[in-house]
Amino acid sequence: AHEIKNPLGGLRGAAQLLQQELESKELKEYTRIIIHEADRLRTLVDRMMGPTQPLNQEPVNIHEVFQRVRKLLLAESPVGLTILPDYDPSLPDFVGDKEQIIQAVLNIARNAVQAMDGKGRIILRSRITRQFTIGHKRYRLVLKAEIEDNGPGIAPEMLDAIFYPLVTGRPEGTGLGLAIAQDVINKHGGLVEAKSQPGQTVFTIYLPLENGDD
Ligand SMILES: Nc1ncnc2c1ncn2[C@@H]1O[C@H](COP(=O)(O)OP(=O)(O)OP(=O)(O)O)[C@@H](O)[C@H]1O
Ligand SMILES: [Mg+2]
Repeated sequence: AHEIKNPLGGLRGAAQLLQQELESKELKEYTRIIIHEADRLRTLVDRMMGPTQPLNQEPVNIHEVFQRVRKLLLAESPVGLTILPDYDPSLPDFVGDKEQIIQAVLNIARNAVQAMDGKGRIILRSRITRQFTIGHKRYRLVLKAEIEDNGPGIAPEMLDAIFYPLVTGRPEGTGLGLAIAQDVINKHGGLVEAKSQPGQTVFTIYLPLENGDD
């Protein structure tokens, strides 16, 4: 990040000095733009780098995560949005960073709300899966958390790219939400994937519930 942030700081500083020397209002508008855009890039780099704190390692209940996400989204879209729980109540806790997992699930679910323009149905589902491989590790027990919506879906040509940074289908989007979500889930030893067709989009998060075998 320093490779980008240091030159950016230099650019911003120079533009500021130039601004002080300039008399003309029209020319000052250009330096204002340089400073503003430098600030925007800095924020973007910060978001792309993700959280720098080490992962918390505490028992996390996926249903508490879902409930928090549900509350936040319903507060943002109070009319026309339905969020239904479909939980396996016998699911054990996993070990991880609750706040970061909330952020990851929120990024995924908020996309669904945005794709449906705040009106539609989301299902938050939890299940247990046995004998599942993530990377090169085989796990006996894996938590499967799904976020399903009945919105317009993701175009097939876009689906392969949505987890890459800066890939967006929205005019105001930065294309970082899913990249950040995937990063958080990977750091927990997990996996996230997406399936989509018009009227049904499902994001599935797999999180190990125990240490795996190589
Ligand atoms: N449930 C969904 N239904 C339809 N399209 C989706 C869905 N989830 C993701 N997408 C598409 O994937 C793109 C990438 O999502 P991502 O969260 O990474 O970026 P963003 O939402 O565009 O911007 P940001 O999250 O940084 O504000 C979205 O712009 C949207 O086009
Ligand atoms: Mg997003």
